[in-house]
Amino acid sequence: MCGIYGYIQSKSNKKPLETCLDGLQKLQYRGYDSAGVASIHKGTVLSFKTVGKVDLLSALVKDHKYELNTAIAHTRWATHGGLSAENTHPQIDYKKSIALVHNGIIENYLELKEFLLSKGVAFTSETDTEVITNLIAYLYKGDLKKAIAEAFKRVQGSFAIVLIHKDSPETIFAGARGCPLAVGICDTSKDVYISSDTSSFSESSYSTYFMKNDEIAEITSTALTIYASDGKVKKNDLSTIIISKDEASKDGYDHYMHKEIHEQSSLSARILKKRMLLNTFSFKELENDNTFIEQMEHIDVIACGSSYHAGLIAKEFLEEMTLTPVTIHLASEYRYAKHLEKKNTVAIIISQSGETADTLAAFRCKKESFLLSIALCNNDTSTLTRETHRFIPLMAKKEVSVCSTKAFTSQLLNLYLLGIHFSNVLKIENKSYIEELSNIPLAIDDVLSKEEIIKKYAETYACYPYFFFTGRGNMYPVSMEAALKLKEISYLPAEALPAGEMKHGPIALIDENLATIAFLGTEKTAPKTLSNLSEIKARDGKVLIFGGDTHPEITQDVIAMYKNGNDTFASIPYCIAGQIFSYFIAKKLGKEIDFPRNLAKSVTVE
Ligand code: AGP
Ligand code: GLU
Repeated sequence: MCGIYGYIQSKSNKKPLETCLDGLQKLQYRGYDSAGVASIHKGTVLSFKTVGKVDLLSALVKDHKYELNTAIAHTRWATHGGLSAENTHPQIDYKKSIALVHNGIIENYLELKEFLLSKGVAFTSETDTEVITNLIAYLYKGDLKKAIAEAFKRVQGSFAIVLIHKDSPETIFAGARGCPLAVGICDTSKDVYISSDTSSFSESSYSTYFMKNDEIAEITSTALTIYASDGKVKKNDLSTIIISKDEASKDGYDHYMHKEIHEQSSLSARILKKRMLLNTFSFKELENDNTFIEQMEHIDVIACGSSYHAGLIAKEFLEEMTLTPVTIHLASEYRYAKHLEKKNTVAIIISQSGETADTLAAFRCKKESFLLSIALCNNDTSTLTRETHRFIPLMAKKEVSVCSTKAFTSQLLNLYLLGIHFSNVLKIENKSYIEELSNIPLAIDDVLSKEEIIKKYAETYACYPYFFFTGRGNMYPVSMEAALKLKEISYLPAEALPAGEMKHGPIALIDENLATIAFLGTEKTAPKTLSNLSEIKARDGKVLIFGGDTHPEITQDVIAMYKNGNDTFASIPYCIAGQIFSYFIAKKLGKEIDFPRNLAKSVTVE
C-alpha cells in the first residue's frame, strides 16, 4: 500500500526531485518502510533510494546539482520482499532503461518471474514490482505504451504503476487496475502531478483525471493522453480539485496522536452543531433518500480495523433506531463470504481514508445490489466517496497519527446521528437520545480532564507483558478498540474479551503477570462485569477498572467515568479513555507513537 508520485515541470520553476519529496511526505501515511525517487538524466536512469522514511531520502537528495524536468517517487509498505535497499522502489529493469514505482500486488509474479528467468532476464530484488518492471522492459520494442498494455494482459492482481524510460526522458507513463491513481494538471503553472492521492498535490487547483482500470496514461508537460486497453485514445473527463495548504502540525504536543486525542471535544461539538440546528435535525446529504430509508429491510455495515469497531459499537443503536437488522461486516471477509440474497439493503461503508483496499473490494462486489450506499469518510476526494451513492463527511480534518483517534470518534458519533436521522424518517421514538446527544462534548471533556490520573495508571501498568481488555454489551467492542490501540502503538499483546466469556477458557491465562483493563459502562452491564472481575482477582490477576465508584474488594485501581450518559453514548468517552491509556503506555515504553512499525495509515492492498 505504497504511495506513488510523479511530477513534470511545465511553467513553474519547481525542482522535480524536491517536489516529489514534498509529495512523498504527504503520502507517508500509506507506508514508510523505504523511499525512493528517480529521473532520467542525460539518457540514463538516475535514482536515490533509502530504507526508512522520506526525511532520510531528503538528506540524500539535498545537494544534487542535476537539471531535471521529470521525476517519479515512492514510499513503500512492503508486501513482497523485506525492508532492504534492493527491494526499495523505484525498481530499475535489467536493461537499466526503466524506473518504475508500484502500489499493489502482482499476484502471478512467481510464474512471470520464472518465465523471464527462462529468457535470461536477471533479477536483483525479491519484489513483485521488479517482475512487472522487467516484463515491460522485455516486451519493449520501441513503443512503451504498447509494452505496458501487453504486460497488463499478462499480470494478475491490483496495482498502480508510474514509470519513466530513458528513451523518452520527459514523458511519464502510468496505469492502474484496482488501485487509485490520479493525474492533476495545475490550472496555473500547467505542471503535472501524478499521485495515489490528490491531497498530496501542491497547494493549487487542478484539472484532474482519475485513472480507470487497465487504462494507460502518456503524460508530458503539454499533453495527457489516455489509452484504453485496446490502445484506442479515450476522452479524458477532467474534474476540478482544489488542494489547500496542508495545515498539519503538532501544536506543541509531543505527538500527533496526543494532539488528535485532545481535538475530540471540539470536533464532536462541531459535528453536533452541523447536524442539530435549533433542535431540528439536518442530514442534507440524505434529503432525497426518505423513500429508500422507508423501503430498507437490512443494513450492511462494511469496514476494517477501528472503523469496523465503530460499526460494532453502534450496531445495537442502529437497530433500535430503525427496527431493522444490522450486520457489521469485516471488509476483508465480506468479499469471499456466502451472502444470502437480501433485498432492500442499505450499505454503510466506514473508512477514515476512503482508500482501504479491503473495504473498496467488499463494497464493489455487492455495489449494484444496494438500495443505497452511504460512505462515512474523512476524505472527500477519496475513491470510496466517488463510488458510493452518498457521502457523509467525518469532519475530523486531517488525522496524521496512524493510530486512529478523532476520526474513529467522529465515525461513531456520525453513526449515532445517522441512526437518529433514520428514526426521524421512520417515525421511531428517539427523544431521549436526542436530549443525550448534547452531553457528548461534556463527557469527552470529562475524560480528557482525567488525563493525569489515566497517565499515572498507564505508567504503572506499562510493565505488564500481556493485557486483557474486557466489558459487556457495547463495552465489549469498546474493549476491542482499546486493545487495538494498545497493540498498534506499544506492540504489547492485548486481547479483547466479553467479560462473561472469560470463565469459558481465557481465565486459564490469568496470573500475576496479566493485566485486565475493564470498561464497566453504566448500570445495565456493570454488575455482571464486576462479578467477572472478582473471578480474575481471585486468581491473582491485576485489574484496572474504568467506570463506577470504588471497588476495594476487587482493586484499588479505579478511574471514575462520566455518569450522566446512557450506555450507548458512554462508548465515546470510554474509547477515549482507552486511547489515553494506550498513548501513555507507549510513551512510557519509548515507542514511536505516530508511525508505528509495520503499519500504514491507509492500507491499499488486500
Ligand atoms: C486504526 O487505529 C488503524 N490504524 C486501522 O485499524 C484502521 O482503522 C483501518 O486500517 C481502516 O482504515 P480506514 O478507516 O481508513 O478504512
Ligand atoms: N508489492 C510492492 C512491494 O512490496 C508494492 C507494495 C504496496 O503497494 O504496498 O514493494
